[in-house]
Amino acid sequence: MNAELNFVSFRLVAQAMPVDPGHHHVLQPAAPQAGNIEWLYWVVFWILFAVFALMLAGFATATAKARVISSRPLPIIEDEEGDHRARWALGSALSITVITLFVILVLSVVTGKRVEGLSSKNPVTIQITGHQWWWEVTYPNSQADQTITTANEIHVPLNTPVVVLTNSADVIHSFWAPSITGKRDLVPGYSSAFWFQVAKAGIYHGQCAEFCGLQHAHMGLSVIAETADKFQEWQQRQIKLAAEPSTSEAIRGRGVFLTHACLMCHTIRGTDAGSHLGPDLTHVASRKMIAAETLPNTAGALAGWIVDPQRIKPGTLMSPNPLAPDDLQALVVYLQSLQ
Ligand code: CUA
Repeated sequence: MNAELNFVSFRLVAQAMPVDPGHHHVLQPAAPQAGNIEWLYWVVFWILFAVFALMLAGFATATAKARVISSRPLPIIEDEEGDHRARWALGSALSITVITLFVILVLSVVTGKRVEGLSSKNPVTIQITGHQWWWEVTYPNSQADQTITTANEIHVPLNTPVVVLTNSADVIHSFWAPSITGKRDLVPGYSSAFWFQVAKAGIYHGQCAEFCGLQHAHMGLSVIAETADKFQEWQQRQIKLAAEPSTSEAIRGRGVFLTHACLMCHTIRGTDAGSHLGPDLTHVASRKMIAAETLPNTAGALAGWIVDPQRIKPGTLMSPNPLAPDDLQALVVYLQSLQ
């Protein structure tokens, strides 16, 4: 039965794959931070291009001269003037190299300062905690019931400073959404902060950029930048407790969730499930992707993931759940109702 179920769910997964998890491009910045990094990229690119062209020109000249000389027997002569010219050429080449490197160093430092300069006007604060292999995303609030916790999807309002507090629950991860800002390490036991501000609405893909174990490549995220109104709507929906199941199948699904291993790791606010080992599932159906952008959030993918997560992401902390087909079906219906 299990093998058959796996087969069906994997076929569904395969069919459902073409979901756009957003795009990312270092040279298509959507935030001033990424814009500064792109500027530095082009400056360094053209400097290096000039150096490369000069090197080739020098090499070509030297080759041409050497060919002329080698066609004649080499006379051994004292040539003081020639020595002097060679010394001068070498000295200037060295100085130009050092000056070029120094200019690049200064530009890098200036760009780093520009990217980091913290703006203080009413930022939105987000706490991002790296886990093997997903991102816990919290919008802290002094009132506990106004705090939002989600996973892998970071909603931000447009043109508003977003301060990100970072931490890690296990090993070093690195937050990188190339269209938005540079890489930021998430170090266990060490809180740090950075900020960005998105200027263009859209879904921007991000990826863990520090090797963190077997599923490092499957540790994606998306930054969803939307208007202030839409962001507030999203916040209001996320603050709510989980929706009550409205059909008998969904009610059965909630029962499955609360009587199986699910509640050992996950939270669904408004139910007895309150563990924080895995992602908060209170509004799991509102997310586009599951398993850190590994699978689209469809019934088939969800079922496949629940039954055999080790096949999809070997090494993940989630253990297999060999549920009876009816139970699995009901559980998926319930999870999909959690908008
Ligand atoms: Cu987390 Cu690589």
